[in-house]
Amino acid sequence: MNQPLLAWSRELALDQSTMDDTHREFVDLLNRVAASSEDDLLASLDEFVKHTEEHFGQEERWMEEFAFPPLHCHQGEHANVLEVIREVRKRVADGQVQLGATLTQALAEWFPQHAGSMDAVLAMYMKQIGYVPGGDNTAAIAAAAAAMAEQAAPGCAPGADACGHTAPAENR
Ligand SMILES: [Fe+2]
Ligand SMILES: [Fe+2]
Repeated sequence: MNQPLLAWSRELALDQSTMDDTHREFVDLLNRVAASSEDDLLASLDEFVKHTEEHFGQEERWMEEFAFPPLHCHQGEHANVLEVIREVRKRVADGQVQLGATLTQALAEWFPQHAGSMDAVLAMYMKQIGYVPGGDNTAAIAAAAAAMAEQAAPGCAPGADACGHTAPAENR
């Protein structure tokens, strides 16, 4: 088999098992889109869009649950990326198949940055408050609320660069 566009590596792992499983799937599906023939491109893009909606939605639900201050920043970046993927999917359906390669190349560069910054900060915070996806998180949510009440909200600081120029206008 040819070399994948983006290889899974230790550097991509965040030591948060649910997130890491989802991210492995993201990498697999991205590689599948990149390796698709023109005939398969649309189907693999559809699968990739579906995964990405769930992947981003999952992180956003966690952040909402414990009222994580960088939520809007992180969500804004997800929204921009999804918009680009959906637009490319539409154009590929209209015959611009060469855009598939442009998209996968850009995402192979974007993903390690996003995982290493916004997702890493999220994973670290989840560990800190003891939040376990799918578990009983009553204590973790209370711990997060107490920590927030005690200190000034960090806001978008961890992903400020990405937020500053990519968040959609409605995110004030
Ligand atoms: Fe992620
Ligand atoms: Fe994310």
